Amino acid sequence: MIVVVDDMMTIGDFSSRCGLSPKVLRTYAEAGVLVPALVDPTSGYRYYELVQIEQADTVRLLRRAGVGLADIAQFLAEPSADSVDGWERSLTAETLSRHQALAEVRCRLGVGPERTRGATTIEVHAVRDLGDLRAAFDLAGAQLPEPIDSGDHRIDDLVERFAADQPLMVVATVEGNVVGGALGFRNDNGTVTLRIIGVVSAFRHRGIGRRLVERVEAEARRLGALCVALGTDEAVGFWFHLGYTPNLLFQWVYDADLYETETDALLNGLLAGLHFWRSSFNGIPQLFVELDEPRLDLRHEVREAVTGCHVGFMMSKRFTDRR
Ligand SMILES: CC(C)(COP(=O)(O)OP(=O)(O)OC[C@H]1O[C@@H](n2cnc3c(N)ncnc32)[C@H](O)[C@@H]1OP(=O)(O)O)[C@@H](O)C(=O)NCCC(=O)NCCS
Repeated sequence: MIVVVDDMMTIGDFSSRCGLSPKVLRTYAEAGVLVPALVDPTSGYRYYELVQIEQADTVRLLRRAGVGLADIAQFLAEPSADSVDGWERSLTAETLSRHQALAEVRCRLGVGPERTRGATTIEVHAVRDLGDLRAAFDLAGAQLPEPIDSGDHRIDDLVERFAADQPLMVVATVEGNVVGGALGFRNDNGTVTLRIIGVVSAFRHRGIGRRLVERVEAEARRLGALCVALGTDEAVGFWFHLGYTPNLLFQWVYDADLYETETDALLNGLLAGLHFWRSSFNGIPQLFVELDEPRLDLRHEVREAVTGCHVGFMMSKRFTDRR
């Protein structure tokens, strides 16, 4: 029988109620977790309160998730969803790095992607919730030449549009493990911005990037979008290969006062005769110049010729069957 005296339980009773052995409870208490509400100074007996049963359950779950006792103590003192998000991110990164390590060992055995290509099932589906979205952003962001994570402001549009545009935020899984993600959202002008895409290195060149892009395009069409576009300084060949038109994108972020003179010089010089249009974003003047193919050499030349702007590529695919 469990004895509850003045809302307090002995360590034995508490142990039966929460399923943690007295020995474990003592270890936890030493680490500042589930500290007894009262310790009798003469007998040394430990007493717990009823409310600690629920805490014990949280501790049990966090231990199962691999969270350390010091972190748990801090969390119980100040519970926050940010801490849970942080653990989730570490867990994804850890799983990913173990997954990559195994894939590399498999490659060393000479049984890399070729062997598994037919054997594994690649599935592409929308992220299920905001936690999934953040994890997918972390995974795709980790693949970029200059890695970013979901602490970066570039996730903001995705979070804001999640409820409306969830189908445009997709991940690829192999045997249940997320190995790639492509995250997009609709703009008010009928375009879809593909904010980020990345495939874990051990799983590249197996058609996963193509599958992700094709899924986003299919959903974009279904949602009535006219075009998919993205900014990139890398992987231009990949996008061109998938039918995207390359555009040089000039953004006068360094010195907007140079916009007119530099635009004139470019359009009368290195970019003469090319189709272009002017625009602005958040008050920053922009110039778009359409190319027939990804001219990395031309980008290099124009970058040498300007000082006030950033020069990158904007890749776009217009759905020609749409107006
Ligand atoms: C770019 C990226 C997503 C491609 O993913 P992937 O799974 O390796 O691509 P796929 O295997 O689906 O390739 C699709 C096609 O594009 C081609 N391709 C892939 N990368 C290419 C490149 N850099 N240049 C030209 N073609 C390329 C492939 O040969 C393949 O052709 P096929 O379908 O005719 O056989 C991947 O390399 C990546 O995550 N890179 C790091 C992150 C990054 O740079 N993201 C893009 C920033 S915008």
